[in-house]
Amino acid sequence: MRLQDKAAIITGGAQGIGKATARLFLTEGAKLMLADMDAAALATTARELDPSGKSVTTALCNVTKFAECDGVVKKAMEFFGRLDILINNAGITKDNLMLRMTEAEWDAVIDVNLKGVFNMAKACTPIMVRQRSGRMVNISSVVGQMGNAGQVNYAASKGGVLALTKSLARELASRQILCNAVAPGFIRTRLTDVLPEDVKKQYLSGIALKRFGEPEEIAKVCLFLSSDDSSYVTGQVIGVNGGLYT
Ligand SMILES: NC(=O)c1ccc[n+]([C@@H]2O[C@H](COP(=O)([O-])OP(=O)(O)OC[C@H]3O[C@@H](n4cnc5c(N)ncnc54)[C@H](O)[C@@H]3O)[C@@H](O)[C@H]2O)c1
Repeated sequence: MRLQDKAAIITGGAQGIGKATARLFLTEGAKLMLADMDAAALATTARELDPSGKSVTTALCNVTKFAECDGVVKKAMEFFGRLDILINNAGITKDNLMLRMTEAEWDAVIDVNLKGVFNMAKACTPIMVRQRSGRMVNISSVVGQMGNAGQVNYAASKGGVLALTKSLARELASRQILCNAVAPGFIRTRLTDVLPEDVKKQYLSGIALKRFGEPEEIAKVCLFLSSDDSSYVTGQVIGVNGGLYT
């Protein structure tokens, strides 16, 4: 029970990596607020993970809007009375080659993946500062580290998340708030399910372990970074990519 009675917010918690993280955190004793903009998936996931409704609550939220993020954090405080962990996981892709990428595709991805992380971190910071404790785990991507053709928007957003994480870690360390990033490689979720077979094959050839990762393999690293096991780890990026990027 590495998260006994810890209160956590997980954005994008309705499916994929966020849902797997929620499931693992529950088995470790955490109380959760799942924040997502997909109302139907959010309700289904909350019922599936915690039929009693005692340990999981939900908030409909678009992370691109600061007021909505602030509302999520206030609701979590009303519910839990404290806030120990923020998992910034909500993210989208809108892939295109630079020649064809539209301004709207650029803006949308930067808004969710980078500004969304800023919004949630900003809303949580005053509370964690008052508590003199907290953990923030930001889900970046291997693409933010190595780049990827067809993803200049996504790569820039995820690279930005790494820089934000390192800066915030320096800012908040004196208050015992630890900020780290996880950089997943290719993980089997609906984000990667939509890739054409030939693209999947091409990615697989570059992965040392010769397979895509599972959402649960990211969840375990989020658990490490949210628990006392990582008490001397801040400002770090943990790659979970099967050896795609070393
Ligand atoms: N799947 C991968 O291979 C992979 C690799 C590297 C990084 N990531 C990152 O991991 C995170 C989770 O990805 P996933 O694969 O589980 O995707 P997913 O699409 O299965 O889940 C993402 C969740 O975020 C929610 N979301 C999207 N926009 C939102 C917004 N504006 N406000 C609130 N919620 C929003 C969606 O509704 C969804 O529930 C993302 O940040 C993604 O970039 C994924």
